[in-house]
Amino acid sequence: MAEVTMEKLVSLCRRRGFIFQSSEIYGGLNGAYDYGPLGVHLKNNIRDFWWKEMTQLHDNIVGLDSSILMASKVWEASGHVSNFTDPMVDCKQCKSRFRADQIDLNAPCPVCGTRDSFTAPRNFNLMFATHIGPNTDSASTIFLRPETAQGIYTEFKNVVQSSRVKVPFGIAQVGKSFRNEITTKNFIFRSCEFEQMEMQFFCKPGSDDQWFPYWREQRMEFYKKMGIVPEHLRWHQHGPDELAFYAKDAYDIQFLFPMGWQELEGIHDRTDYDLSQHQKFSGKDLTYLDPDTQERYIPYVVETSAGLTRNVLMVLSDAYDEEPTPEGDIRTVLHFHPEIAPVMVAVLPLVKKDGLAEYADKLEHELRSDFMTYYDQSGAIGRRYRRQDEIGTPYCVTVDYDTLKDNTVTLRFRDSMQQVRVPVSELVSRIREENRAYRRV
Ligand code: GAP
Repeated sequence: MAEVTMEKLVSLCRRRGFIFQSSEIYGGLNGAYDYGPLGVHLKNNIRDFWWKEMTQLHDNIVGLDSSILMASKVWEASGHVSNFTDPMVDCKQCKSRFRADQIDLNAPCPVCGTRDSFTAPRNFNLMFATHIGPNTDSASTIFLRPETAQGIYTEFKNVVQSSRVKVPFGIAQVGKSFRNEITTKNFIFRSCEFEQMEMQFFCKPGSDDQWFPYWREQRMEFYKKMGIVPEHLRWHQHGPDELAFYAKDAYDIQFLFPMGWQELEGIHDRTDYDLSQHQKFSGKDLTYLDPDTQERYIPYVVETSAGLTRNVLMVLSDAYDEEPTPEGDIRTVLHFHPEIAPVMVAVLPLVKKDGLAEYADKLEHELRSDFMTYYDQSGAIGRRYRRQDEIGTPYCVTVDYDTLKDNTVTLRFRDSMQQVRVPVSELVSRIREENRAYRRV
């Protein structure tokens, strides 16, 4: 396995249209990224894989899409207005700003080298503030949400009353979140605008002791199902000094990113903290009445909180390899699980002439309703295979002279580079079978 560096990933992402820096023609905006033609498919496919896992493959989980803008009081109740801060110091000389917990305050400023130049640490709130309506006074201040979770808590009552769900049940949501992160190196790992995939599981107080380990196991299994190399995943339990202000217990799933082990997803036992706070601040009754036992209580919450954009970086990093080929050169390949690959099937005529291009073009159109396809007729066939390997296309279908005689095509597998002959009429079912049986080699 070749070493995966961030430079290689950034370069591939830019070159092949996965991810670009935002506002690049204006010099770029730090902490914001644009997902290009391939990147948007990869991100949407990871999102859909998670959405299906949560809302289709598990009992009692419903979906929600709450708004990014919410009443300011939400963030007072949640604790974000007073607690969602990083301690920051400024260099008095060059005015650079650093996270106090990430630098040595006795050392010289890393930017200008001045000694004893740091201000005392001050808390800096990570929420982006803006205004709603025509006035810009403090009464109109609202925040871009820094997590999607709060939209789920504020809709708890509406969902219970409208969906006939019974505790224990979960609400899943995917969407944008915003944090004014000061340290945004490492590509899309930590950005100011990002996406989260969060699920809040509401359960009876006390039963969180069973649901918390259950969801930890489920979430780790999910990543293995998505084809992530198990040795690249591990657990990290939060110590008392790391626990978020709302959490009774918390574990991170960490992934071995190019810069080392880092958090990918958090699984948190948030107790009844959030619903109790919203009940207090809104004055609305957020208790749940158990229809079977007539018990009334505020449910406990086990949260699974993953970064979607951080998942994209994980998947790219995990899939990336440079491998020697039988022809004696090196191919760059992305070993994506087929269900998240941006393109599923590339259709390639061996040569353009003698009706091969027309046959391949027609076949590609036919496959479109089943798979995301791509048609490529330019360049030598070997180079076309390499181009598809580099963007992680799991299957290439080649139309050659025999195809015209017997309606069979060559099906080439990205990972093994093996080729088999398949009747065109069996292509769709064969690819579906291969997808079901897919194992990362
Ligand atoms: N609702 C709980 C919550 O938001 P968190 O640990 O702050 O918990 C959860 O965030 C996940 O969201 C992280 O594990 C990470 O994957 C992702 N995430 C958080 N901040 C991020 C950022 N600035 N850029 C990209 N992803 C981020």
